[in-house]
Amino acid sequence: MYKSITLCILLAFSSAAFSQVNIIPKPKETILPDVSGSFSITAQTKFVLKDPSLQPSVNFFNDYLFKIYGFRLKSAKVATKNTIVLDRNKEADTLQGSYTLNVKASGIKIVSHSRQGVFYGIQSLLQLLPTSKSAKLDIPWVSIKDEPRFAYRGMHLDVGRHFFTVSEVKKYIDYLALHKMNYFHWHLTEDQGWRIEIKKYPRLTSVGGFRNGTITGHAPGTGNDQTPTGGFYTQEEVKDIVAYAARRYITTIPEIEMPGHASAAIAAYPELSCFPEESTYIKPGVVWAGSTSGKQVQQTFGVFTDVFAPTEKTFAFLQDVLDEVLPLFPSKFIHIGGDESPKDNWKRSEFCQQLIKEKGLKDEHGLQSYFIQRMEKYINSKGKQIIGWDEILEGGLAPNATVMSWRGEVGGIEAAKQKHNVIMTPSTYVYFDYAQSKPEDSLTIGGYLPVQTVYGYDPIPKELAVDEQKYVLGGQANLWTEYITNMPKLEYMIFPRMSALSEVLWSPKEGRSWTEFEPRLKQQVQRYDLWKVNYSKAYLLPVVPVPTKTN
Ligand code: ACM
Repeated sequence: MYKSITLCILLAFSSAAFSQVNIIPKPKETILPDVSGSFSITAQTKFVLKDPSLQPSVNFFNDYLFKIYGFRLKSAKVATKNTIVLDRNKEADTLQGSYTLNVKASGIKIVSHSRQGVFYGIQSLLQLLPTSKSAKLDIPWVSIKDEPRFAYRGMHLDVGRHFFTVSEVKKYIDYLALHKMNYFHWHLTEDQGWRIEIKKYPRLTSVGGFRNGTITGHAPGTGNDQTPTGGFYTQEEVKDIVAYAARRYITTIPEIEMPGHASAAIAAYPELSCFPEESTYIKPGVVWAGSTSGKQVQQTFGVFTDVFAPTEKTFAFLQDVLDEVLPLFPSKFIHIGGDESPKDNWKRSEFCQQLIKEKGLKDEHGLQSYFIQRMEKYINSKGKQIIGWDEILEGGLAPNATVMSWRGEVGGIEAAKQKHNVIMTPSTYVYFDYAQSKPEDSLTIGGYLPVQTVYGYDPIPKELAVDEQKYVLGGQANLWTEYITNMPKLEYMIFPRMSALSEVLWSPKEGRSWTEFEPRLKQQVQRYDLWKVNYSKAYLLPVVPVPTKTN
């Protein structure tokens, strides 16, 4: 009897401690000691770095601590009972990110084979901190052994439809870091704006970086705000952002779209179109700001027929652009788009029809495949690999391409079966521009994607045999910004869905359930409050059933 009361008290203590261990994404293994206790981080606590290359982890921790709790930790040479030791071991780390985190009376220790593993240990430690401000931060004794499930854990950001400043992009990258994401897919060129400085073609940004107005309401629009808008990143700013992400162990992948979504580039250089003399087509009913003659940067949203002409002039232009873009991004991947490129202009262009004949291509899809393969060859010759949206499967896949599957998982499955790498981004599970509630509570592109659906996603489709599954590198959520015009709205669209996605991409699949996740999400929401982010509370609403579909 006495023994069982003691056991009950011990269990009660350890479950109280466990309730403080609410890490998202959930670690692979969390062990609480038989006897619970806590370690207090105060301004006297010091870091001990066994390897100076771990300094970015200390900097991130200290910046966070200072911003939220108002103090920073100094460093010391020798471990004591009041130190946080960061160390590296020699164990193999195939997924580049495994780590151990131990919090004991004798101190805190994070050990990993890799620098990013230590950084992920730091992210877990940040989530052990209390969610109320204090000068003494008690964290429970705990032993964590963790590693990511997928090597590719990404978030995309479209800065074409709406421009986000350097400091906003950095804030976004910080959110990725806090969720142990490791790829930032930066969608830099669009019909509504070209956002990266190219020195050889200054009109890309001076003309293509700006538009005279933007539609109001859903595309094609009910009006136009008649307000000039735009912006672009200089190459120096791009380097700064790429380095900022790298200090968070995040690789930035630029996307330079081709052959579609090219209206802004064509507005700058009309000769890139099959029909340079034709004015930009404006659908009847679209309310326009400023001139409607000549080539214009788009002011409404959708898919447009004025795409790049597959001429030698265009190939030379795109190669010149890439010659300036590639050196800015150490990433081995470069995204070349390939999606939503209507064939209307290619069909009515004598030049294109002649080219199809000359090259012995089947049709315009064959021509798109020729276009992409030619660009792939160039990019491969520079030591880089291409990623393309799943349309690049049509007409034949470029030999070394990685496919980003967005129209459901079908393209990803097909690519994996062809032994090509795949990144899963199916719109029904990870399009964070979709509404989180039904009916939508603010203007969105449409769709319905509650956080529970994101949490229920598994990037490995059941259609893949065991030996094909290895081609799925991981997954990514996409944030298209037609209806996301500012940072608070951006935060509203990603939180809490990004927290759910981080667990899908990092944590073991076994044992994952919404009922287990939901209480941890409630703790996470307290962190959102600490971070002062604007998040959706739609997770508290019942999920509205929708017919299942794959696209
Ligand atoms: C896409 O959503 N058009 C890739």
